[in-house]
Amino acid sequence: MERIVILTGAGISAESGLGTFRDKDGLWTRYDLADVATPDGFARNPRLVHDFYNARRANALDASPNDAHRALARLESEWSGELLIVTQNVDDLHERAGSRNVLHMHGELAGALCASCNHRWPAPRVMSPDAPCPSCGAPRTRPDIVWFGEIPYRMEEIAEALWQADLFVSIGTSGEVYPAAGFVQEAQAAGAETLEINLEPSRLPGLFDRAITGPATQAVPDWVAGLLA
Ligand code: OAD
Repeated sequence: MERIVILTGAGISAESGLGTFRDKDGLWTRYDLADVATPDGFARNPRLVHDFYNARRANALDASPNDAHRALARLESEWSGELLIVTQNVDDLHERAGSRNVLHMHGELAGALCASCNHRWPAPRVMSPDAPCPSCGAPRTRPDIVWFGEIPYRMEEIAEALWQADLFVSIGTSGEVYPAAGFVQEAQAAGAETLEINLEPSRLPGLFDRAITGPATQAVPDWVAGLLA
């Protein structure tokens, strides 16, 4: 076994104090996804959308990586084969834990994007819809986050990595959102072994070859230690 692809979701950052989306008290129980995570919502009320992501950016900046993020960084540095993390998370806790090979398929809180000319630049801590784009000057600045109805980033590279994977591991994601939810089947079709690590079994039983149930900060370091032993 050489090539590992790891998909992470909000569950890996939960014990760093960042809320998940669909758990009890999750973000989507308190906010309407259509208001804050769609292009239509942004067109209707850009201020509300910026307030939502400004709050999440502040939370992420105040949070620290946990033992699960650190274990994956250790795996990347000690694994003799290739390792890619594909994350649905928009925080930077994988990078701050030391991971280098990370693809943010749903964008990043750290990025700003001009909805007019697609120019990208580092997001300030507090973004405002009136701030002009540094390139074209249009006051249509948005967070560089992939919203529902938009195509996730880096899909070609991800498909290629899944096609070549020997092991696919899904950590802390409910498997409710496509295309990420379909990666397990893509990896399986390409011949990879599949493993889910989650607080509770998240999908139909039998979708993964193997499941480890428990909080990420315990389950991920244990799994990594076993793999490197
Ligand atoms: P969800 O909130 O849908 O799922 C979080 C998963 O993490 C659940 O299966 C929980 O059981 C699990 N979990 C919670 N705490 C955990 C812990 N301490 N250790 C291990 N697992 C734990 O979040 P995602 O699957 O990441 O997209 O959501 C996917 C996408 O939906 C997000 O990227 C976001 C959201 O709408 C966009 O905004 C585009």
